[in-house]
This record gives sequence, C-alpha cells and structure tokens, in this order.
Amino acid sequence: MDIKAVETAYARWAPVYDKTFGAITEVGRRRTVGYVNAHAPADVLELGVGTGLALRYYSKTLRVTGIDYSTDMLRKAKKRVAEDGLSHIHALMRMDARALSFEDASFDFVVSMHVLSVVPEPERVMAEIARVLRPGGRAVIAVHFKRDSGALAVLERAFAPLADLIGWHSDFDRSAVLAEPALTLVEEAQLPPMGMMTFMVLERRADRAVG
Ligand SMILES: C[S@@+](CC[C@H](N)C(=O)[O-])C[C@H]1O[C@@H](n2cnc3c(N)ncnc32)[C@H](O)[C@@H]1O
Repeated sequence: MDIKAVETAYARWAPVYDKTFGAITEVGRRRTVGYVNAHAPADVLELGVGTGLALRYYSKTLRVTGIDYSTDMLRKAKKRVAEDGLSHIHALMRMDARALSFEDASFDFVVSMHVLSVVPEPERVMAEIARVLRPGGRAVIAVHFKRDSGALAVLERAFAPLADLIGWHSDFDRSAVLAEPALTLVEEAQLPPMGMMTFMVLERRADRAVG
C-alpha cells in the first residue's frame, strides 16, 4: 500500500471508523496508553493518531503530540480535542510517519496503535521512531501480526492482496518491527480477542546509531 492508497482508504474509513475497526481495537488502545500513563509526566508522540480515539485516555500530566497523514481522520481528531477540552493534547499535525519533522531525541515515548501494519515502509517508520526518541525512551506499540498456521492464518493470506481496499496489511510480519538496531524489545504480550493484537515495548538504546 503506498501513501496515496493510505489517504484514499482512510478517507473512506473516517466516517465509520469509531464504530467499526475503532471499536474492536479498543483493548490495544487502553493497554498502550495505560503503559505510558504509568510513566507520566513525559513528552509523548502518537503516530497515526487517526480519529483521536486514544486521546481522552492520556494522563493530563503528559504532553501529547499526534500526527497522521489522513486529513479526514485528523479532522475528526481535532474536533474531538476541541469538543472534549483535551488541553494536554499539545498539537495534532498532518505528517508522514516516514519523515517526521521533529528534532532527534524529542520524545520520551512514541506510541503507535494499529498503525505499523498500515504504513508504507514500516522499517523506515521504526527508524524515525528511534531517531525522535531520547536515549532510554520507549516505543509503545499495539499491532496485528500475521499468524503462521490455523484458520486465521488462511484468512490473513486471503485478505493480503486487498490491502489497498481494506486499509492495512493483514499479513504483516513482526520482522519489520524488530529490524531497527537502535531499539531493543523489552516487553511483549498478546491481547484479546484471541490474541489478535500484540502489545510491545521497545527501548531506545543509547549505544547504537539509528540504522
Ligand atoms: C487503523 S488506523 C489507527 C488509528 C489510531 N491509531 C487508532 O488506534 O484508532 C491507521 C492510521 O494510520 C495512519 N497512517 C498510515 N500511514 C501513515 C503514515 N505514513 N504517516 C502517518 N499516518 C499514517 C492512517 O491515516 C490511519 O489514520
């Protein structure tokens, strides 16, 4: 899926997202934001903020910046922040996660929920995450990975050619998330329903350059 396909797919998703895909992925959002809240105060970047479903869950002592490429999804997030008076949301900006405009070492946490299996060039996004994290900072991730066997694996393979249409890669491989040498996996758990989502925490190594 290229970036144009992302924009087209999420223009279609935006009006219905919160009550469909957004509703069934709520567990990942709660777990991910809960982890960050336990480390507040901190500077947080949320990549692929979408319609902003997670924004209300962040502790008010965090300083949260959100980015997304889809203007339609972002418009909904901005409306949510205004209507709900979410004053700890510092900024919401249109940006490509592959080329962030932030300085190196700007954030304590980079959060990404249900995004890495959507973005074009996920390895490049992982490198950008490492670049903008402070040494010891953490990437906190919820993501769907493909399975190697079973009925769900068959379904994932069947849907893989439809990525442009459905808006994500159903056959996303974990190697893309683990490839960045400046990030080390420190925590991993399977999330319900049926372990469909994976929760991961990766730490920015101080002793390795971004790769
Ligand atoms: C499945 S939605 C997840 C939204 C939100 N994180 C959530 O949990 O509800 C994926 C989001 O990633 C965004 N996205 C995909 N590729 C992107 C890129 N290269 N840069 C920024 N955002 C991107 C899409 O526009 C979409 O809003």
